[in-house]
Amino acid sequence: MRGIILAGGNGTRLAPMTSVVSKQLLPVYGKPMIYYPLSVLLSVGITDILVIARPQDLPLFERLLGDGSRFGACFDYAEQETPRGLADALIVGREHVGDDDVALILGDNIFHGHDFGSIVADAIKNNVGATLFAYEVSDPERYGVVRVDRFGTLLDVVEKPSNPPSNLAITGFYLFDNDALDVAAGLSPSPRGELEITDVIKHFVDRGLARAVPLTDGFVWLDAGTPDSYVDACNYVQAIETRQGRMIACPEEVAFVKGLTGEDQLLAAAAEFGSSEYGRYLTRLAGRFIERSAA
Ligand code: DAU
Repeated sequence: MRGIILAGGNGTRLAPMTSVVSKQLLPVYGKPMIYYPLSVLLSVGITDILVIARPQDLPLFERLLGDGSRFGACFDYAEQETPRGLADALIVGREHVGDDDVALILGDNIFHGHDFGSIVADAIKNNVGATLFAYEVSDPERYGVVRVDRFGTLLDVVEKPSNPPSNLAITGFYLFDNDALDVAAGLSPSPRGELEITDVIKHFVDRGLARAVPLTDGFVWLDAGTPDSYVDACNYVQAIETRQGRMIACPEEVAFVKGLTGEDQLLAAAAEFGSSEYGRYLTRLAGRFIERSAA
């Protein structure tokens, strides 16, 4: 399965913070926002990843993430000239995905919960058509909303409905089989002028091939798209990391634990970030590993 991180858009709801910096490069507590979705993909072993961003931002993402080798991965970069809609990622990303299936994740979505890696790994294994991750919210009208049967099969999906059919929001993480590329290529813009991801999902709903995996039981999903949700995300990450001494979404750690990188790469990253909290964290991680191997 190939990965796409969609990190474009104008970030208008976060202006003027986003006037000269892409939203997905803003820090969420101690690390750039894009580290969070990147860590999700790495945690399930998706290592062929395309980052899509605005032309003016793309060089910054490339400087930050490089060719992916530091994470045992392989990154490509592609421009999205204007924010034509989420489904445009499947058009811009067509060559990158090739004949494979695709995991599309939004660059401003933060997931944190016990065993998320296994939940996603299971979903990838069982994906036929489209798999979404649904999350119960108090304000579904802000999101894509699904109606599901008791087996999790999607009966309906609507984007930002004024009258939501349920309070199950679609998170910004989608698994599609390869048909989704043709479906996206054949879409016309919606009345609001965008190529809607919900229209891609509807194609699979009509064929009974879309399902939603609920993220429940203490699971946390945040999008950092408005000043309030951005601050909520920063506060959440700070609270957990300070309390537990463990980082959420440290891609070097995820890659190392997943076996995508070795001790040398971890030590090199620790040295690169030096005396920052991030660098010290990686140094502690490497130290613990070396102690364990020596024991
Ligand atoms: O966060 C989950 C929600 O994301 C879903 O529940 C909705 O169904 C989905 O439409 C989306 O809603 P948003 O209101 O958050 O969409 P927004 O237009 O803000 O775009 C989400 C992210 O994708 C944002 O970080 C910018 C980026 N983006 C957006 C568009 C339309 C792009 O990179 N390119 C685009 O063309």
